[in-house]
Amino acid sequence: MAFEGKTVLITGGGSGMGRLAARNLAAAGKDVAIFDVNPEGLAETATGHTGIHHWVVDITDENAVHQAVKEVEEKLGPIDRLYNCAAIMPFGKILEHDAGVMKKMMEINYNGLIHITQAVLPGMVARGKGDFISFASMAGLLPTMLTGGYSATKAAVAMFTEILYHENINSGVRFACVCPPTTNTPLLNQGKETAWPKMLDQGTLLDPQDVLDAIDKGLEKGKFWIFPNRDSRIGYLMRRFAPGLIWKQVHQVEGF
Ligand SMILES: NC(=O)c1ccc[n+]([C@@H]2O[C@H](COP(=O)([O-])OP(=O)(O)OC[C@H]3O[C@@H](n4cnc5c(N)ncnc54)[C@H](O)[C@@H]3O)[C@@H](O)[C@H]2O)c1
Repeated sequence: MAFEGKTVLITGGGSGMGRLAARNLAAAGKDVAIFDVNPEGLAETATGHTGIHHWVVDITDENAVHQAVKEVEEKLGPIDRLYNCAAIMPFGKILEHDAGVMKKMMEINYNGLIHITQAVLPGMVARGKGDFISFASMAGLLPTMLTGGYSATKAAVAMFTEILYHENINSGVRFACVCPPTTNTPLLNQGKETAWPKMLDQGTLLDPQDVLDAIDKGLEKGKFWIFPNRDSRIGYLMRRFAPGLIWKQVHQVEGF
């Protein structure tokens, strides 16, 4: 079934795929709430879209998340769809990567998801409907070097969301865990400014709209795992059935 709800919440709505989803949905007549730590990014997303409402929210702050979700529901009504987009992605070889940065990444990419889930999902479950979308990553399923800190957060997101889905399988809420490969958004600059694995230049750079379309199609078909293109589907199968081959290629391409 296509998305028929009215109110959407998007974390990380100040950039990239969250921004694109917000603008698409507002153009389709939905009421869209966006959360982000970046006020300029939020304002830019909302410019020219009366249906987009923004809140400066750091998703690592549990109380702030609960308060902002309450305000969204008071202003726009019950949340019908949630996109969990907010994340950061600095890279580095694990032994050389600042421990504080890796912990901060887990705090945002994973702990933030816990906060939003506990603020939004109970309402969906009580109403017996809603769409819950987590952004994991191929980086959380398919290992490569230099991405250890980030990949661990995305593996956590994938496992958390899979268990969440099964714990609420008869609730009427639809769940999707999307695993995009490298996608053309500003997030990539964080990787490029730190340590960029050559492996990430191997596949095709995906268009953000293709990821969002794959989510819609997947939800309509009742799919939980969403692999937005052929590369990601092949990568998933290789990880399952030939992990040794993946590591052989990673060492060859990275040169160590
Ligand atoms: N771009 C890719 O190649 C790619 C691939 C796979 C998965 N993903 C995932 O897709 C999602 C969207 O990524 P994107 O590429 O659009 O990224 P992006 O960098 O364009 O947007 C992420 C947004 O999250 C916000 N954010 C960061 N910390 C926050 C916090 N503590 N609280 C609230 N907001 C915060 C940022 O300010 C930014 O606006 C992310 O979860 C990312 O990990 C991206």
